[in-house]
Amino acid sequence: MGCADASRLAVAAVLAAVGIAACSEDTTRPGGVITLPDGRIGDGAAQPDVAVPDAADTSADADASADTGGDADAAAEVDAAPDADADAAAEVSADADTEVDTSPPPPPPPTSGPTLLQWLQAGSYLTWSHETTPHVSSGAHSGNVRVYLNPQLVKSLNSGAKIHPEDAAAVMERYESTPDLVQGWDVWVKTAPTSDDGKNIYWYENFKGSVFANSKGASSCTSCHSAGLDFLQTSYPLQ
Ligand code: HEC
Repeated sequence: MGCADASRLAVAAVLAAVGIAACSEDTTRPGGVITLPDGRIGDGAAQPDVAVPDAADTSADADASADTGGDADAAAEVDAAPDADADAAAEVSADADTEVDTSPPPPPPPTSGPTLLQWLQAGSYLTWSHETTPHVSSGAHSGNVRVYLNPQLVKSLNSGAKIHPEDAAAVMERYESTPDLVQGWDVWVKTAPTSDDGKNIYWYENFKGSVFANSKGASSCTSCHSAGLDFLQTSYPLQ
């Protein structure tokens, strides 16, 4: 897109005053947000008086048509400066919005039974993404269940990865008949970038105080979980 020389020079001065390069900046703006002064720069045909409504500006335009373009540009400057400022502010806040997720991911759950049990009882996983309510297990695990996924695992699932990264982890609360009483937990932790048939996944199950799994590659768990996506069975997105 070319710039008409006359308006480019004048508007460049205006935009320089607010720290924006004329002509180049319109390619970086969100499309369609601002028509002033970009529209004028872009086609070079539109005149300031088309878009400037107030009496002071239109009288300046009348002067401009009589002799120089300088007056018209002075009028444009009055209007262009606030617009450009608002636009610059919008860009700053948009940048801030994209800078999310800079905090380091939480450490994965401990992978030894007694320490893990304390970690679970302390509710250390409660801030993770989770299913909204406990629901009946598909049958493999008895009673009602509620699954929590750590940020590393959520990121991996969102990316569509087939293999989840080291430190990805899932915790499943186990309920029996009383809906809000947690009776135990099942835990899944990736301990290496590859799964190696489930041997690099740490498995833990504690139900009503009895431990049924507490090791990497526990075959009572991998046998069934091997059917899932990198040994994960829960359907995603979480319900
Ligand atoms: C017969 C199949 C089967 C066996 C055996 C099994 N699971 Fe599961 N597991 C599932 C299914 C299906 C789910 C999805 C939730 C549900 O419907 O219960 C699940 C969910 C989980 C979850 C939530 C994360 C995920 O993978 O979706 C964990 C953690 C878990 N199981 C751990 C274990 C552990 C530890 C063992 C071994 C003690 C085990 N499982 C044995 C089928 C099984």
